[in-house]
Amino acid sequence: MKIDSIAVIGAGVMGSGIAAQIANAGKKVLLLDIVPEGAEDRSIIAQTALKKLLNTKPAALMHKRNAKNITPGNLEDNFNDLATVDWIIEVIVERLDLKQDLYKKIDAIRKPDCIISSNTSTLPLSDLTAGTSKDFSRHFLITHFFNPPRYMRLLEMVVGPDTQPKVVECLSHFCDYKLGKGVVKCHDTPGFIANRIGTYWIQTALLDAIRLKLTVDEADSLAGTPMGVPKTGIFGLMDLVGIDIMPYVLESMVHSLPKHDPFQEQTVIPDIVKKMITDGYIGRKGKGGFYRLSTLNGKKTK
Ligand code: NAI
Repeated sequence: MKIDSIAVIGAGVMGSGIAAQIANAGKKVLLLDIVPEGAEDRSIIAQTALKKLLNTKPAALMHKRNAKNITPGNLEDNFNDLATVDWIIEVIVERLDLKQDLYKKIDAIRKPDCIISSNTSTLPLSDLTAGTSKDFSRHFLITHFFNPPRYMRLLEMVVGPDTQPKVVECLSHFCDYKLGKGVVKCHDTPGFIANRIGTYWIQTALLDAIRLKLTVDEADSLAGTPMGVPKTGIFGLMDLVGIDIMPYVLESMVHSLPKHDPFQEQTVIPDIVKKMITDGYIGRKGKGGFYRLSTLNGKKTK
């Protein structure tokens, strides 16, 4: 098996970052997203993502000279192009129904040896492949990149019972040698490794900050640097990840963890978070987040 041509579906925070990392490795990548209702430019989401990739601070996620390796497009006009690629990476919103629906469409057109992987944070592989063909499952696995994909070396790989060894070998080699990742194989358990720990840790910091009436700065001085995230802190990390994905991730954890797991009690979504999402304060990709927002416990953040 070989990987020469790649498509990334979903041009949001992670999809665009993953496409950039592939472009940085000198590989051509097709970046597709939905067509927004009424949009004149049908590939506006991928086009906009491409512009943002060159302007992220403090360091660009993609070097200017590599931009030519990304072809932006949309899932309606470019869907059939997916039939020619060696690896399709699904990076759309964390919703099982949408991902399953997309896989069924891909299954109908993909070429025989095409590898398909999902960037899901928490959804079980066994649920993702339900309803697809046996051959799809043989070529499917989870490749969970971390944010930002250019700088985070860890890549969690979840292999299903049907995934062919040659698929695992080919993709592990590519991610390791071409994309510079440290591939860690995980079992198909809730949140895999990092999010099983990380979501608990983030939720604990958030719920305790609200309970103890701490400001974001106070909470981050306790749970940021001391916990190994000196630059962004936990609240800055939530801003980077995207606050709107939290309800989906938590819902998935509630669904897949045992009923009496202690984490079940920590999965409450606080009213402030619900309001931030409704008002568009979903982090760096939105109007702002915990930083650049002054409402947590009525106290100002920097
Ligand atoms: P995002 O919200 O930034 O981007 C999602 C993109 O998917 C959007 O551009 C949206 O237009 C597109 N989309 C929505 N419905 C679609 C559909 N039916 N078909 C095609 N495209 C559709 O989300 P983000 O943060 O990039 O997350 C994507 C995936 O990566 C999720 O599964 C998430 O759990 C996972 N992930 C996210 C991380 C993060 O730090 N944000 C880290 C690791 C994994």
